[in-house]
Amino acid sequence: MWCSVLPLLVNLSPAVLFLLQLPGCTATREGTWEDYKYGNQGSELQDKKHFCSWKCLLFTLQWPAGFCQSLNKETLCRIPQNINNWTIHGLWPLRVKSCCDCWPVFHSDVQELEAELTEHWPSLLKVKSSFHFWREEWEKHGVCAACVEGMNSPLRFFQICLKLRGRFDIYKLLEDAAITPSCERPYKNILPVFVQVAEVQQVLAPHLGDKHELQCVTDDKDREVWFQVKIPLSRNLTLGCQHHSDANGDPASGSGPGWNPSSGHPCPSQVPFYYFPIDHEEPRRPCS
Ligand SMILES: *[C@@H]1O[C@H](CO)[C@@H](O)[C@H](O)[C@H]1NC(C)=O
Ligand SMILES: *[C@@H]1O[C@H](CO)[C@@H](O)[C@H](O)[C@H]1NC(C)=O
Repeated sequence: MWCSVLPLLVNLSPAVLFLLQLPGCTATREGTWEDYKYGNQGSELQDKKHFCSWKCLLFTLQWPAGFCQSLNKETLCRIPQNINNWTIHGLWPLRVKSCCDCWPVFHSDVQELEAELTEHWPSLLKVKSSFHFWREEWEKHGVCAACVEGMNSPLRFFQICLKLRGRFDIYKLLEDAAITPSCERPYKNILPVFVQVAEVQQVLAPHLGDKHELQCVTDDKDREVWFQVKIPLSRNLTLGCQHHSDANGDPASGSGPGWNPSSGHPCPSQVPFYYFPIDHEEPRRPCS
């Protein structure tokens, strides 16, 4: 893995060149990473600078019942029995095109967090283990987040993510406002009134900031289904961040090919949307 980044490096310093000659490339770990982190002096590799130049992060939580609607394939989704809550999708530095696979994470790196990660950051895909999901998020986003003290290792990165999950208890915030998962919001004796985006945003804004974004997918019955929340944070993890990116053009919003074919869109403000209940047996059809 370390070796795989080497062809990208140009203008190597003599010290690094020396290290590269060592067998197995293992000794280049620090040197290579330092180059990526701080930029190799005199290097023209724009990408390297890119890794750490970000100012804002998006912390992204997903609602499992909605997430399953975002998958094209009916049979792909799995919601483990113990998952009844909002789960972590990722923590993404904004405006970073891609990180590198130059800092591998191993199972043993996150072993002490495994129970918590399994509860709050499960893979909802049958074909992907939870560790596979974590590793992918680390390689895609965590390596760039690691430019900040406190997140500069896989363990610390995942710890921070779990802390953030604890800080944003969306289920409870909504429940306290009587917004609970439902196939049809059950107002009795009057016409059904569905969850409106303004209503949800009103409830969440004091806790997630004004700039948080609700994301929906359109299901096969043309219903708007809520599946994700993006919470902007600044580098020091305070709420909100000044950035100028349109939500859709933001590369961090994309997901790897195949695992989330529809990456969703902002929930429309005029159209009611659904906050589906979780159905562990039929995760893809909670409301059919
Ligand atoms: C979701 O998790 C939070 C803690 O982060 C907890 O307070 C809440 O009760 C959980 N909700 C459900 C439905 O388990
Ligand atoms: C965190 O960063 C923001 C934006 O850079 C800054 O305005 C704020 O004062 C910082 N807060 C703390 C507690 O350092």
